[in-house]
Amino acid sequence: MKTLLEKAQQTHQLTTEEIVQLLAHPRPQPLFDAADAVRQKNVGDGVYLRGLIEFSSYCKNDCFYCGLRRSNLQAQRYRLLPEQIIEMAHKAVAYGYKTLVLQSGEDLWFDTDKMCHIIQEIKKLDVAITLSIGEKTREEYAAYRQAGADRYLLRIETTNQALYEKLDPAMSWHNRVRCLQDLKELGYEVGSGSLVGLPGQTLQDLAADLLFFKEFPVDMAGIGPFIPHPQTPLAHEKADGHFDLSLKMMAIMRLLLPDINIPATTAMETLHPQGRMMALQCGANVVMPNVTEGDYRKKYELYPGKICTGDSAAQCRGCIQHKIESIGRFVSPSKGFHGDYLKGK
Ligand code: SAM
Ligand code: SF4
Ligand code: FES
Repeated sequence: MKTLLEKAQQTHQLTTEEIVQLLAHPRPQPLFDAADAVRQKNVGDGVYLRGLIEFSSYCKNDCFYCGLRRSNLQAQRYRLLPEQIIEMAHKAVAYGYKTLVLQSGEDLWFDTDKMCHIIQEIKKLDVAITLSIGEKTREEYAAYRQAGADRYLLRIETTNQALYEKLDPAMSWHNRVRCLQDLKELGYEVGSGSLVGLPGQTLQDLAADLLFFKEFPVDMAGIGPFIPHPQTPLAHEKADGHFDLSLKMMAIMRLLLPDINIPATTAMETLHPQGRMMALQCGANVVMPNVTEGDYRKKYELYPGKICTGDSAAQCRGCIQHKIESIGRFVSPSKGFHGDYLKGK
């Protein structure tokens, strides 16, 4: 393992077999230490906060793993009005957020005009805007970009096409890749990522995901452990081992892509009380605290046990800063564009 890690630290290259070997290793601490060192050297000790607004729980899609899937008739649906979203953005900016992430199910009520209006209004607050609203046409992506959106998050979920299409038979893996390519060509900073622990997913599949992110290359990659939701077809799957495997995935990603943004995902903390801080010590440099106000957080239930559903935006802001400082890191005051690292800023 030592030789492999030395090679990865110097060249940022690993083969599929080498990645599988690292993913399967029973004692991953040296991997985590190497990723932490690469993170420190390339992106420093600052942690970027992205304030997450979950603005609609309606979704036209039916992904087998997700609690918001349209066939989940027990899901609690809500949709914030554009003015409510803009008001939440104002509050988030007052808490010091420099980037806001607007996320939702694929909700057709938000047509291009409505989305562009929301983006333009929020952009006036001098924040970076990240969208995470699913698959759209190139024209729609172009319109959002024109309105001021800076980044887009669209996880590939898995690069195993057969598995991807099995988990939502109406969706096309090639269309997902087309979306990612369109976003890149339109000048977005592109975030992607995988779900770890999907039924039938192999270590080879996960290695292929990492090499896909490197090849693309993405500006950000979010790794989320798959957590089974009781009102979905995958209700009886287990989450055992998904946390450890996700930490290893983040660490290897940091070795392969030394200066990208890697979030310590909320799902990690759902599986482990210190999950996000552990992720920050295994390669991650971003956290996305929830800034959604009121009861909506509970209703945006992708998976059970989601953290912070009883907390306010103000509580999360204080809590996360405290946690970050408790591990010797600090909240970065900048917007945290990957492009700034590429330019050597
Ligand atoms: N609808 C948009 C999309 O799918 O890209 C954005 C919102 S979607 C809820 C955001 C992410 O939630 C997905 O990319 C998926 O990886 C994650 N997710 C869905 N169900 C999950 C589960 N059961 N466990 C962990 N993460 C899940
Ligand atoms: Fe909809 Fe996204 Fe959930 Fe799929 S993962 S059902 S697209 S919200
Ligand atoms: Fe929400 Fe800690 S980040 S309570």
